Amino acid sequence: GAPPGRRWGAGPRRRRAPGLRPGGQDGAGRIGRLLLQRLKPFGCTLLYHDRLRVDAALEEELGAAFEEEVDAMLPKCDVVVLNMPLTDKTRGMFDKEKIAKMKRGVIIVNNARGAVMDTQAVADACRSAHRRAGGDVWYPQPAPKDHPWRYMPNNAMTPHISGITIDAQVSRSLLCFQVRYAVLQGAGLPGAQLHCQGRQARQPVPVK
Ligand SMILES: NC(=O)c1ccc[n+]([C@@H]2O[C@H](COP(=O)([O-])OP(=O)(O)OC[C@H]3O[C@@H](n4cnc5c(N)ncnc54)[C@H](O)[C@@H]3O)[C@@H](O)[C@H]2O)c1
Repeated sequence: GAPPGRRWGAGPRRRRAPGLRPGGQDGAGRIGRLLLQRLKPFGCTLLYHDRLRVDAALEEELGAAFEEEVDAMLPKCDVVVLNMPLTDKTRGMFDKEKIAKMKRGVIIVNNARGAVMDTQAVADACRSAHRRAGGDVWYPQPAPKDHPWRYMPNNAMTPHISGITIDAQVSRSLLCFQVRYAVLQGAGLPGAQLHCQGRQARQPVPVK
């Protein structure tokens, strides 16, 4: 039975199943692709935008449809996840206008860098109760005490901790070891692509 004073029932906690929700993603690089892979079993409708389209075979494997224009993708999504780097083009990209193109009730998840979003525009949108924001990254970091995201409603922010799991520490140490070993052996750098942006730089770099 239900715990004393509590009622069983789906009523107030009713939520839509993830499988029914279209999710959109901006930036389908290493992290973006891993996220798409992990979402696929839930049967979500997956859309992605990236300045570079992934190849057809991988697109089919991921089960994600490419959107040429990010502005055309945003109104279709219940959840929007940002996974692109901070560059001159992406700085402040998610501003008042972009956020206004999103659905009412959208959840925006920024895993990339705080500065790809306009701080005040996000805070205003969350205050309207039609937008919710989650994510791990802030601008600036550490966030000052009066940062608007600390006080906005409808947020589920973390203080840039998502990359520091025990598993990530172990794989980072392993990568350091592999790189040192490869250098000492005179071979290419196995992890060199981790430090480069863009698809053209993803091949191991030979050491002279
Ligand atoms: N929260 C964290 O702890 C954490 C950890 C790692 C990385 N990150 C952030 O996530 C970002 C992505 O990491 P990654 O390893 O997947 O990088 P990546 O370089 O593999 O992928 C980035 C993707 O973004 C795309 N892109 C670049 N500019 C774009 C634009 N203007 N519009 C649309 N797409 C664009 C690129 O084509 C690429 O496919 C990093 O740059 C970093 O800022 C955050």
